[in-house]
Amino acid sequence: MNSSEIIDRESFDQNNNYFILSEYLGHHKEENKLVLRLVEGRIILEFLSSDIVRVVMSKRDNQVDLSSTPAIIKHDLSYNNFTIEDKAEKLELRTDSLKILINKTKFFLSFYDLEGNLIHQDYSDHSLGWSGDEVRAWKELGAKERFYGLGEKTGYLDKRGRKYTMWNTDTFNPHVPSTDPLYQSIPFLIGFNQGRNYGIYFDNSYKTHFDLGLNSEKYYSFWSEGGKLDYYFINGTGIKDIIKNYTDLTGRMPLPPKWSLGYHQSRYSYHPEEEVKEIAKQFRKKDIPCDVIHLDIHYMDKYKVFTWDEQKFPQPKQMLNDLAEDGFKVVTIIDPGVKKDPRYDLYQEGIKGDYFCKYLDGEYYIGKVWPGECLLPDFTKAEVRRWWGDKHQLLLDKGVKGIWNDMNEPAIFNDSSTMDIEVVHDNDGDLGTHRRFHNLYGLLEGQATYEGLKRYNPNERPFVLTRAGFSGIQRYSAVWTGDNRSFWIHLEMAIPMLMNMGLSGISFCGTDVGGFSDNSDGELLTRWTQLGMFMPFFRNHCAINNINQEPWAFGEDYEKVIRKYIKLRYRFLLHLYNLFYESYQSGLPVMRPLILEYPDDEQTYNLSDQFMVGDSILVAPVYQPDRSERMVYLPEGEWYDFWTGNSYDGGKNIIAKAPLETMPIFIKAGSILPLAPSMNYVDEEQIEELELNIYLSTDVREDNYRLYEDDGISFAYQQGKYNVRDFSYLYEGGKLEFRIYNLIDNHQLDYNNYLIKFKNLALEPNVVMIDGIKSDDWEYNNCDLKISVGVNVSKIEIR
Ligand code: GLC
Repeated sequence: MNSSEIIDRESFDQNNNYFILSEYLGHHKEENKLVLRLVEGRIILEFLSSDIVRVVMSKRDNQVDLSSTPAIIKHDLSYNNFTIEDKAEKLELRTDSLKILINKTKFFLSFYDLEGNLIHQDYSDHSLGWSGDEVRAWKELGAKERFYGLGEKTGYLDKRGRKYTMWNTDTFNPHVPSTDPLYQSIPFLIGFNQGRNYGIYFDNSYKTHFDLGLNSEKYYSFWSEGGKLDYYFINGTGIKDIIKNYTDLTGRMPLPPKWSLGYHQSRYSYHPEEEVKEIAKQFRKKDIPCDVIHLDIHYMDKYKVFTWDEQKFPQPKQMLNDLAEDGFKVVTIIDPGVKKDPRYDLYQEGIKGDYFCKYLDGEYYIGKVWPGECLLPDFTKAEVRRWWGDKHQLLLDKGVKGIWNDMNEPAIFNDSSTMDIEVVHDNDGDLGTHRRFHNLYGLLEGQATYEGLKRYNPNERPFVLTRAGFSGIQRYSAVWTGDNRSFWIHLEMAIPMLMNMGLSGISFCGTDVGGFSDNSDGELLTRWTQLGMFMPFFRNHCAINNINQEPWAFGEDYEKVIRKYIKLRYRFLLHLYNLFYESYQSGLPVMRPLILEYPDDEQTYNLSDQFMVGDSILVAPVYQPDRSERMVYLPEGEWYDFWTGNSYDGGKNIIAKAPLETMPIFIKAGSILPLAPSMNYVDEEQIEELELNIYLSTDVREDNYRLYEDDGISFAYQQGKYNVRDFSYLYEGGKLEFRIYNLIDNHQLDYNNYLIKFKNLALEPNVVMIDGIKSDDWEYNNCDLKISVGVNVSKIEIR
């Protein structure tokens, strides 16, 4: 509906009559749980650690259901050590890091640290309630509280003041600030009150809503249209710690194949075979690095998944083999809809095996998607996930290297854009309607795909890309943000969207570079490629019927700049890979809002047009046309312009030069940054000498950097087959000491040498000692000292 009538339909009812859990009747402890009985319901506080408390409610005196959605994978957390003190009006609970007060006269929870500072509390007037199928929590809203997370949402970094819905939706309309929901549902929120932060993960897969201060200045609330009220209160020493705790519960991104960090080129659709080969040829001819080509729906025979159009792609194996010789990996799209065609073996198998979604009376759900009438696999069944996963063998046998899961909200061409909510999913016997499983559909398809790829090739890391997902999707898949447009405002919107996805556990994310639909232009594509080179997932993709937007599409002037930035991506690749490893270990994002690194600096709290890559690189993309400079906020400390080497004092805004060929990039003083030579594709050649850039500053006496490296493709890293080297320096008393420690040494390095570049050396060097022996083999020029040493060297001294 596109007329004004929609305004009436969208009006939002706040006045439901809720049964509020208020009057306390009693409590008892059961191992790591506190069971509370109240007049209108029961509540269990389940302690998972001293920082993580799960709150689950049941209606009236129903048993509290402690099952979880598949987002939660950490089931062995349990903390029994909490104490309970029963006071006249309150129960006082203590863990090793929290004090929790439970108000008895009118139920509400308050969370304090052990010094007695309030971290967060429920809204004291009404805190938990239910009405029919709806369950809801109300929370006190701090006067200056900010909100982050919620995954893939439009708008600025701080999510306060708006209402958001979680219901995976194929939204082709232009994504504007009011466009909500989009494809992903990540009901994880970070509440930030300077110094007092917490996370809330609402583990409910039904359609859920978060009103973050739109309808009240006193409280915010979240609720669901079904299922149970089941949330995790997550404490932590700061936002980083909260993300670690959240990703401990919902899982982290395993390391993807290193090539998937390279540049990807896509189009709806490259076909026939000759066009694919031509695109690949152009990349090599024009000296523009590229690792991956994506094949969109036209590679298939009548959009039937796991088939090839034999006219257009007569010899897929040969084609993929030829491309592989040139370093190209091919990713093919897979949609969940299976064409209803009795001649089609996948359809036959699905019917015979009882693999498709049905109504309760056994009638199949049939929806229209690209191939026409389709049936949809019921991914809630383990058997179906296995079947689907194994089907990928057909593609992998031909040489396909990764799978792109699209239309998996699931998207259907009808008024609701999705499957009928009355469809009943099997869920291995624990049946439920599509209301419950809709938001999980993409996650479970992701699981099926990831596991299928891994079964096929147990020692090769799968690459899966998805549009839809739920909390936990990071375990299986990279995520791209769907059908954006070639509009400047969509370039701008990408930055806070990706930053919040990163804060929500999804590190491997990106937007379609250049914009998917509508027509791009040279300047827009150039600026978007500049941003893209620091997006964790870097793919240029473009819709059918729009003008071409390959890097060379708009003439040589743009091509030159685009080439420069794609090459730069490869220069930064080792560092990016290092950050992926950090993310695998801790859940921390690669692309970070500044608040993550500077939580005491108010300027960062809603800074939506700059980001950090790890903790040392600050990036300020240009997202408006005709700009040759832009304002950049530099937080405290000293910063180096990556391009000119000029240094700036932080704690202020500066105007940075940003002509078309320059995206402002700043390196934090003290940082150590490895840069690799650019290549046509990842690991094309051995690195002969690893360049280490040390951004010295007299203000930073010492710093260190840990570099992680492995084979980039296998799972051997999970058995400890990797290297970690620690580079550190100490800069004092007219002397600089640089040390290299091989902390873990279980993987054969490519290179034999380091080229170390000490930048901005304040002392004029007289003597350079390498492992105690004087060396003359160094170059000093204008405060920069360059020296090449073997990888076994452990100490360099400069005096
Ligand atoms: C959807 C996807 C888009 C893809 C198209 C055709 O719109 O979001 O990326 O190109 O379908 O498969």
